[in-house]
Amino acid sequence: MYTRIDGKETGAALRLTIREAVEKRKAEGKRVPGLAVIIVGEDPASKIYVRNKHRACEEVGFLSRVYELSSSTSESQLIQLVEDLNRDDEIDGILVQLPLPPHLNEKSIIAKINPDKDVDAFHTFNVGRVMLGNYRFAPCTPAGIMELLKAYDISPRGKECVVVGRSNIVGKPMAMLLLAADGTVTIAHSRTKALAEVTRRADILVVAIGKARFITADMVKEGAVVIDVGMDRDENGKLCGDVDFDAVAPKCSFITPVPGGVGPMTITMLLKNTLVSAESRS
Ligand code: GUN
Repeated sequence: MYTRIDGKETGAALRLTIREAVEKRKAEGKRVPGLAVIIVGEDPASKIYVRNKHRACEEVGFLSRVYELSSSTSESQLIQLVEDLNRDDEIDGILVQLPLPPHLNEKSIIAKINPDKDVDAFHTFNVGRVMLGNYRFAPCTPAGIMELLKAYDISPRGKECVVVGRSNIVGKPMAMLLLAADGTVTIAHSRTKALAEVTRRADILVVAIGKARFITADMVKEGAVVIDVGMDRDENGKLCGDVDFDAVAPKCSFITPVPGGVGPMTITMLLKNTLVSAESRS
């Protein structure tokens, strides 16, 4: 028997506490936290993500500003907007939706965000703080996974933790957070030799490799906790994760579904980071 980790429910409970914190701020005469999201161009997936962020802000009572810029926006125009938002007292979090159109350099734009308002935790300064274990914001997806583990009383302490995927947004920071929680951490990736041998060692297996149903039952230890970050489409166009859920779940103690697992936590942690930023600024 396995337990299905419910990110929808865990995220909703956390958003309720965020909403209560907003109400408390209002009762104390403080302003509501403000999140600014910038989207450049017409990428359909990005538009959906941005709409969902806006709705999540409304749900918890945040100020939400969405800047929809044309795909011909220049780097200097975008940087100007970021710098205006850095100075804007109503705004606690600034998020530049990625990917940007190819003529815009993501690194140089992220570098212009005030690290205190960088609620994605993508700025080099915040990446460094995560590495040092001394951070205000952790990147939203790994932070959301740590919240899920906490909600289900799963401690990484002393456990074999294997992260499959080495992206800057998920894999690398995930490894740092598990390490900070006293896990014994291995990062595996698409070039790892004998990957199944590595994943079979995992007490906690986090998969963020972006390949539909890539993790099969033979790659998972009996009783493992499996966290699936994937948002893939199978050969029939159906949404699925990086883990072959139906085959893997019976071997697990806990497993996240897709959808309804990690996804709802990511956006919730964005709200949490924005609240933390507002509390530090008041
Ligand atoms: N694009 C896909 N996911 C994310 C995210 O978490 N933050 C930003 N800024 N862009 C994204």
